[in-house]
Amino acid sequence: MNPLALELNEKLDKEYPALLNMLSDLGQSMYYPKGILSQSGEAKSTKYNATIGMATTDEGIMYTDAVYNQFGDQDPSDIFPYAPPQGDERLRALWEKKILKDNPELVAEDISKPVVTNALTHGLSLAGDMFVNPGDTVLLPEHNWGNYKLTFGVRHRANIETYQAFEEDGSFTLDYFKQALENFNKEKVILVLNFPNNPTGYTPVEEEVKTLVESIKQLADKGTQVITLVDDAYYGLFFEDVYKQSVFTALTQLNHENVMPVKIDGATKEYFAWGFRVGFLTFGSKNETVKDVLVAKLKGLIRSNLSSGSLPSQTAVIHAMEDPEFQSQVDHNINILKERYEVTKEVSYRDEYKELWTPYAFNSGYFMAVKLADVDPEELRLHLIKEYSIGIIALNKTDIRIAFSCIEKSDIEYVFETIAKAIKDLK
Ligand SMILES: Cc1ncc(COP(=O)(O)O)c(C=O)c1O
Repeated sequence: MNPLALELNEKLDKEYPALLNMLSDLGQSMYYPKGILSQSGEAKSTKYNATIGMATTDEGIMYTDAVYNQFGDQDPSDIFPYAPPQGDERLRALWEKKILKDNPELVAEDISKPVVTNALTHGLSLAGDMFVNPGDTVLLPEHNWGNYKLTFGVRHRANIETYQAFEEDGSFTLDYFKQALENFNKEKVILVLNFPNNPTGYTPVEEEVKTLVESIKQLADKGTQVITLVDDAYYGLFFEDVYKQSVFTALTQLNHENVMPVKIDGATKEYFAWGFRVGFLTFGSKNETVKDVLVAKLKGLIRSNLSSGSLPSQTAVIHAMEDPEFQSQVDHNINILKERYEVTKEVSYRDEYKELWTPYAFNSGYFMAVKLADVDPEELRLHLIKEYSIGIIALNKTDIRIAFSCIEKSDIEYVFETIAKAIKDLK
C-alpha cells in the first residue's frame, strides 16, 4: 500500500478504528497524491509558473473567443481553468451554508465541508468506491431508483437486498424495515435512504424518521457497522407536513460509533439544473482528523476517475446562489410542482379508479406510483404510447410510475382518465 494511504489509515485507526473497518479495500488503499496538483498548488504565486497542464499568457488563461462568447460576462478565469478535484472552494462554502440553513438542527462541526461531485450519480458511485466491497449487503426499499442496481450491484458487486415499504393498501410502513434490521446479522450493511423517494414520491413524517433512526441505532448497538447513504436528490420538494430536514441530520445527531452518515445531494433537481452535473458529498463526523482523512481519500477517488468536475457548471451555480433573485425563482418552480401534486393527489385517488389501481402514498418529489389491479404494466405502457401518445414507466410486474413533474396541471386529469381508459381497453 502507498505510504500516503498508510498514513491516512493510521490516523483513522487512532481516531476512529471502526471507520477504518467500514471502508472498502479501495477506500483503504486510496490517498491524495502529492503529485502535479499539489506541486502546482504550491507554485500558484510564482512569477514563472511552469507546473500546470494548461496554457497561459501574461494576461491570464489562454482561450478562444468562440468558446468564451457562450459565457456572457463571466471572468475567463472562472470558465477555462481546471476546477480543483474537490470543487471550487466558493461553491463548497455556499453549499455548506445552504445545508446548514435547510437543516436547523444540523451542527456545523458535525459535518465535513461538502465535496463537489459530477452530480448525484457520481456521488453515489464514489460512496460505493469508498465503502462497498464485493459481497457487502446494500439494503434498499423495494421501490428504489433503478440505477442503484447498476452502481452498487454491478459496479461494486454488492449483494442487494430489499424490504417492503408500503402495505397492500398503499400506505407507507416501516415495519418491514424494522424487521429487516432486527434480523440482520452481518458485520456491515450499507443503507440507501432516499426521500423524497424515486419512484413513489414519499417522504416520512417526523415520527417515522424517529422510528427509522431508532431502528438503525438498535442495529448499530448490536455491533453492525451501518453506512447510511442519504440520497437527497429531491430535497426541498415537500408538499405536505413531512420531516423537512434531511434524514442525514437525524443520523448525525445519533453520533454513534457504528453509524457513518453520508449525504449525497446537488443542484440537479433542487435547482432545476439537470445537465449541469453539479452535486455534493458530505460526511457526518465531529472529528476533524477523520473528516480530513475521508476528504483526502474522496479527492483521490475523484482524481482517479474524473480528475475534476466542470468549472463552467460550478461557476454558473455559484453565480445563481449569489443572485438575490435565485431562491424566489426556485420557489416559483417548486410551487408549480406543488400545484400539479395537488391535482394529481385529488385525481389519482378518485373512487372511479379504485377498481383499477391503488396509489402508493405520496407527498413530495417528482413522482407518484400506483399498483395496477390486473393489467400488465409493460403492456399498458406500450398501449398508452401507441394509442394515446402518453408515456409512463413500467416499474415491475404490478406498478407504474407517473412523473407529474412533467405534466401541465391542466393535463393531469386527462392523463389519468386516459390511463383508466387504456386499462379498460386491455381487460
Ligand atoms: C433518487 C435519485 N438519486 C440520484 C439521481 C441522479 O441524479 P444526477 O442526475 O444528479 O446524477 C436521480 C435521478 O433521477 C434520482 O432519482
